[in-house]
Amino acid sequence: MRRRGDLEGMVRASSIVADVLRLMRDLIRPGVSTGELDRRAEKLIRDSGGIPAFKGYRLSSDYPPYPASICASINDEVVHGIPREDRFLEEGDIVSIDVGVKALGFYGDGAATYPVGAVSPERARLIEVTRRALYVAIEQARVGKTLGDLGHAVESFVRSQGFEVVRTYSGHGIGKKLHDSPHVPNFGIRGAGLVIPPGLALAIEPMVNAGSHRVRTLEDGWTVVTEDGSDSAHFEHTVVVCEEGPKILTLWEETTELGSCAL
Ligand code: MF3
Ligand code: CO
Repeated sequence: MRRRGDLEGMVRASSIVADVLRLMRDLIRPGVSTGELDRRAEKLIRDSGGIPAFKGYRLSSDYPPYPASICASINDEVVHGIPREDRFLEEGDIVSIDVGVKALGFYGDGAATYPVGAVSPERARLIEVTRRALYVAIEQARVGKTLGDLGHAVESFVRSQGFEVVRTYSGHGIGKKLHDSPHVPNFGIRGAGLVIPPGLALAIEPMVNAGSHRVRTLEDGWTVVTEDGSDSAHFEHTVVVCEEGPKILTLWEETTELGSCAL
């Protein structure tokens, strides 16, 4: 982030992301379709003056363009689940919602995993560990720390809880592009990698599997699932590294974890 107006754009885009994640929390219940969640998210984004960043997005030229405004990934689906009008959430499911917004020329990106009705203790624990893993990562997003410090902190925390971080997908720089440099892996070696400069904007997004870290992509070209069928969860915030510490731009939930780090 180089200019003052950059922060304004990122704050705007990220606050729409936060509004969508709050809306999703309120809409998610047994019987709702992921297609309906997508329609509601797109309407809120456009009514707020934003553009859905994922719609039409290509990860690379050999991928089909992404057809929706959110990703909705259920149970063993890790990321990039495509919303469908005939895919209904069921009691006991967990669903990861990922949303990206462009506003004032800048991007915001965020994700959360929600329980559908009452879920098993093990699923509830997977959600909580992944949510805490995100805040462990954000705690490391400070001037002078390295991306290796950040990845190492996430991986050690997740392993200490008996789960595995996904290694195939990472967080990323964000700003005028949705996916910018640097890569922000959720594993790493302490002291290695980029030394974090002031003003760096990052989308930090741990994906955590209850079983093996291995994943594969389904024939639709998008949906990523765990190879062993175990459950997976995903939390993401867009964060700016200020001199005083990390500022979370996509904060949507009440949390005591990092009270001083919200913008
Ligand atoms: N937050 C995810 C990411 O940064 C979602 C990307 S979905 C896509 O990779 F459609 F934009 F590819
Ligand atoms: Co992202």
